[in-house]
Amino acid sequence: MTHTARYAAAVESAIDKLHQEGRYRTFIDIERHRGQFPRALWRKPDGSTKEIVVWCGNDYLGMGQHPVVLAAMHEALEATGAGSGGTRNISGTTVYHKRLEAELADLHRKEAALVFTSAYIANDATLSTLPKLLPGLIIYSDELNHASMIEGIRRNGGAKRIFRHNDVAHLRELLEADDPAAPKLIAFESIYSMDGDFGPIEAICDLAVEFDALTYIDEVHAVGMYGPRGAGVAERDGLMGRIDIINGTLAKAYGVMGGYIASSAKMCDAIRSYAPGFIFTTSLPPAVAAGAAASVRHLKTDQERRDKQQLHARILKTRLKAMGLPIIDHGSHIVPVIVGDPVHCKQISDMLLEDFSIYVQPINFPTVPRGTERLRFTPSPVHDPKMLDGLIRAMDNLWSHCALNRAELSA
Ligand SMILES: Cc1ncc(COP(=O)(O)O)c(C=O)c1O
Repeated sequence: MTHTARYAAAVESAIDKLHQEGRYRTFIDIERHRGQFPRALWRKPDGSTKEIVVWCGNDYLGMGQHPVVLAAMHEALEATGAGSGGTRNISGTTVYHKRLEAELADLHRKEAALVFTSAYIANDATLSTLPKLLPGLIIYSDELNHASMIEGIRRNGGAKRIFRHNDVAHLRELLEADDPAAPKLIAFESIYSMDGDFGPIEAICDLAVEFDALTYIDEVHAVGMYGPRGAGVAERDGLMGRIDIINGTLAKAYGVMGGYIASSAKMCDAIRSYAPGFIFTTSLPPAVAAGAAASVRHLKTDQERRDKQQLHARILKTRLKAMGLPIIDHGSHIVPVIVGDPVHCKQISDMLLEDFSIYVQPINFPTVPRGTERLRFTPSPVHDPKMLDGLIRAMDNLWSHCALNRAELSA
């Protein structure tokens, strides 16, 4: 075997492994149509096209086509050009970035906010930097935290403790076992996006006070969606002031791109100054920052859009449950239907797309544990009743066709 062939064989065998386990990922090429979300055009591998309805997007509120957002982006693009032209430190800080950060600080009623190129980077950069600022820091992390938090915590070289998902008794045990004088931080999410369950925010804040720990919450799936101004679940529950660092995205409910943390002025200043993931990368294009700011501003008052999204999620869950489909229902906007097998999950997803023009991506390991493979539906205010009827009919049909279990798993 030649030198090159040896490496090629290793790479191929890694890919083969995914095929064998039925979890090789196939990207579906879609062209979204502004003004017609959630409709899109599927560009098939054979070159043909098909009109489809997207049911698995994270543009939860359809803000990616909102005229207010588009106008702000057009305006900034015309005014200032395409890219930012630099890192935040070297010519890449514009009025658009500053306005966006002011909008976010106001949203979360914090002294400051810091924008990153994504929430993944915001989590990774912040959590990997904190031990530099707080020597000896111990991070307590929910076992189901997002990969970006896990990665940040893993790389920081500091001490970490993993508590069982949403298990505050276990968290307490871990806190009690450590030196009371050690600096501590509890990292968790407000909504876990694959099951759609909520984190126990108040109980964690109580423990943080008792053990003198900082709190770090990922509200990525909640910002724009919950709370009277769309600041997330902590705002809805009157707990936002008790969280030290809030992480959010501008790419899901806000429909654009980018991520951030909101915190004290000093914390943001320190992360700004020490986090490589913030310092050594080009800042967001000004038009993106302008669109995101417009979206955040708009959703501070558009409660109707939030209500409609919640209504559509409730209707979809009620109808799927009525057919006996195994859905998980924790009362959030996310609608997971468990298939429990990667091959079946992919088959159903393929059939939905080919035969019913419904696009829902199969969710497999490692995104979810093996045996809990699922279809994750994200109804939005821009899905209409006809689309909903079409989805229900298709799911009923396929569940019978594939002889799948109709026992309910709901919480
Ligand atoms: C819980 C959670 N945090 C962070 C992220 C990263 O967000 P972004 O897409 O802005 O990088 C995701 C993305 O899916 C997520 O689910």
